[in-house]
Order: sequence, then C-alpha cells, then structure tokens
Amino acid sequence: MATDLQRSVQRLHYVCSECGAEAPKWQGRCPACAAWNTLSEDLMRVAGRKAVALTAAATTTPMATVMAVPGRVLATGSFEVDRVLGGGIVPGSVVLLGGDPGIGKSTIALQVSNSCGDEVSPALYCTGEESLEQLALRARRLCCTGARVRLLVESDVDTLIATIEAERPSLVVVDSVQTLRDAGTPGPPGSVSQVRAAVLRMSDVAKATGVPVLLVGHVTKEGAIAGPRTLEHMVDVVLYLEGERLGEHRMLRGIKNRFGATGEVGLLGMERDGMRDLAAPSRGMLDAASLGEAGSVVTITCDGLRPMAVEVQALAVASPFEFPRRMASGFELNRLHLMLAVLTKRARITIPKLDVFINVAGGIRLDDPGTDLAVALAIAGSMKNRAVSRHSAVIGEVGLGGEVRRVSRTELRLAEAVAVGMEAVILPESYRGAVPGDLRCHRVSNLIQAVALLG
Ligand code: TYD
Ligand code: MG
Repeated sequence: MATDLQRSVQRLHYVCSECGAEAPKWQGRCPACAAWNTLSEDLMRVAGRKAVALTAAATTTPMATVMAVPGRVLATGSFEVDRVLGGGIVPGSVVLLGGDPGIGKSTIALQVSNSCGDEVSPALYCTGEESLEQLALRARRLCCTGARVRLLVESDVDTLIATIEAERPSLVVVDSVQTLRDAGTPGPPGSVSQVRAAVLRMSDVAKATGVPVLLVGHVTKEGAIAGPRTLEHMVDVVLYLEGERLGEHRMLRGIKNRFGATGEVGLLGMERDGMRDLAAPSRGMLDAASLGEAGSVVTITCDGLRPMAVEVQALAVASPFEFPRRMASGFELNRLHLMLAVLTKRARITIPKLDVFINVAGGIRLDDPGTDLAVALAIAGSMKNRAVSRHSAVIGEVGLGGEVRRVSRTELRLAEAVAVGMEAVILPESYRGAVPGDLRCHRVSNLIQAVALLG
C-alpha cells in the first residue's frame, strides 16, 4: 500500500515560468497570469520529494551546544552602506541590491568590491550586462583599477559557481541577477523560474564556501525586485537604492536584514567619481539662500531610524481662479488640505481665496507626521509674511484640535538638528526627554502658540 509520501511523490506539480504560480495539472494557459505555454513540471520539487522518500533522518543538535561565532564582517568602505548593512557584509551572506535603472547600483557594487577585495584574495565582479571595456571605463572613473577586483563576463550559473569554488574570492558581485541562466531550469533568462533557481544556487554556494554574494537586481515595473516578492525571502539582506535619477542625493534603504535593524537608511551623494557618504552639513537638504524667508521652515524628518534635516517651502498667493489651487510636491495633498482646515478652524487664520503650494526641497518625500507643524508654520508664515528664525528647526505633529503632539524619535531628531547647525528648536510641550544644551528650545502645545513664534 502506498504511503501518503509516496503518493505525493507521484503527483506532479506544474509551475508558471512567468509568475511562479503553481497548478496541480498541466494547462495551456496559466490560471494566474494568463500567459500561454508557460506551465511546466516543477522538477525540483519532484526530485526533492523522491530524495526525501529514500533518505534517512538527520541528527539534530541541542541549541546549548552550539557556539555563536560572530564572523569577521567585511567593511564596504562607506560608513553609510555599513550602517544599513548592520556593520558590514557578513561572510556567507547573500545581499540583494535593488533599484531603478541608472540609479547607481553598478557604481556602488564596484566600489564595494574594491573595498572588500585585496591583492591576496580579490573580489569577483561578474557581469552579464556590460562588456569588460565598459566595466574598465567605470572602474577608471571610480579609481578602482587596482588588483583588488577581478572581472568576469558570464551568465551561466554553473560556470560562475565553478569559478567561485576555484578562486575563493573575498566577495562576489552578480550584476545583474536577471542575466543569470541556470541550464537545469525552464524559461528564458530573467523569468521568475530562472531568477529563483539562480538565486537559490548562489545562496547555496555562499553558505557552502563562506563567500558573500552581492546580487544586483533591477526593479520591475510593478516595483518588485527581480520578480515577485518570493526573492526577498531567499536572501539575507535586501537593500533598495532610491532617489531622483537626475538629482545627486541617493538613499540606501534596508528592507530586510537578518544581521541588523531594518528601516536603516544610508544617505549618499552621486558624484562624478562615484558614490560618497553625505557628511552632516550636506545631509541637511538645506538651501542657505531661502532659509529665514517667510514661508521657509526647516524640519527634521525621521525615515526609519534616520533623522534628516529638510526645508519645507510654502507659497500662499491670491488666486486668479474661482476655486483656489492647492498643490504639494513631496507632501501628501490630503494632508495639506487637512493642515489648511486646522489652521482655519483652530488657529483662526482665514485662508480666503488663496492658492497654496508646498514644496519639499531636495526631492525628499515627507510621509512622517512629525513634519506637520513645519508645514503649518510654512503656510502661516507665507500668508502673514513672517518667518521662523533662520537657524530654527520645527518638530511636531498637528492634531485635528490644533494641538501639537509628541513625535517618535525626538532625541535622534534633536541630535541631527545640532549636527546641521541649528541653534533653536520649536517642539511639542509634551516632550519630556532631554534637549541638547546648545539648542534654544521653544515648547508649544497648540498651533496658536506656534504661530505666535513667527517673527
Ligand atoms: P550605474 O551605476 O550604471 O546605474 P545602475 O547600475 O543602477 O543602472 O550609474 C548610472 C548613472 O550614474 C549614469 O547615468 C552615470 C552616473 N554616474 C555618475 O554620476 N558618477 C559616476 O562615478 C558613475 C560611475 C556613474
Ligand atoms: Mg548597472
């Protein structure tokens, strides 16, 4: 009599090479994504089940007898990148670096390999997208032309793995994961089944050899890195590089990290000769020319664990239209409407027929409610033609009753205010924590008190 296990071995599964959906029987069209002729037998699963049916059970280990040996992490040469990684690159780990095309992924990857490699055990930079000449041009621009990095143009996973086993590099970069091809898996390069198989195999070789792997992945139109979210479960760390492509600022965001905190953000600047850490003064997206003008207010937003000084600008002008316009760039429009309503009702500022525009400098998006008060004061300042003093930062959330509420991570924000050269701060009355000695402090409990501070 067949056991359940044997029966499930005999049952074939079919998997779509486009979207990764599974089906119990073969069909001409994938029931999930409606692509034609993409279902094929899931050979890995079938082979796996057969193997399980024939294999003896493993010996388990009591937790108390295992010593956690912290391996030596590789420094990436950038304080900001190390910060997001949780100290550096852990041996045997797999890191996925995603981002839009042209944002600077290959640039960071090459700089990191140059820092992780040395003459004795160089890093291996494997590309399936560019020629050796193109790579050499970039390397010259980044001053990474020494013996610390070896180059390989290859897209076959087997060849890459054999090379890693033979050369034992200090780090492997695969640029990009979409160009890898696994001969034993159906589907064209870049398809979900191919990318998944390639990542699994790279992950196995990383664990077996201890060589860390940095996979570069393009973000698809849908916003997922290298296909469906399943890829994110197969790697140890997922980083995401973002920013305005034409601007110089980049944010490196930790989406997942098995070795450190997620939500870490690294601030980088894309320069002519590569990616640089942003130092405290340039971390603040502040334009000295407009600070201290009516309608310009500095706030400290906190993105994950990362505080950052940003300038909020508001412009309120008489509207030529029957229905005044309200526009916001870098701030949610609904929240702007809400601030206008609260200013009208709770701070007794009538906003008659005015067009109101909000702009957040530096291409930053403010999703953090801790920046409400700054937006409200920028609007009030522009209407009354009064300014917050030039070296003041404004922190606080505004409630529907016009009350100014405490915000998360105020200590971090205050430390950043000092680092970017602020001398005073307007903050919620209810904040009970410490304020750095060199910051003058104005505490407010509602919008009326805050508006009264406009000079
Ligand atoms: P790249 O790293 O190739 O982006 P990705 O791999 O994410 O597609 O970088 C692309 C852009 O960056 C390109 O437009 C040129 C610019 N760049 C610099 O500004 N400075 C540099 O040092 C380098 C190498 C590129
Ligand atoms: Mg690239």
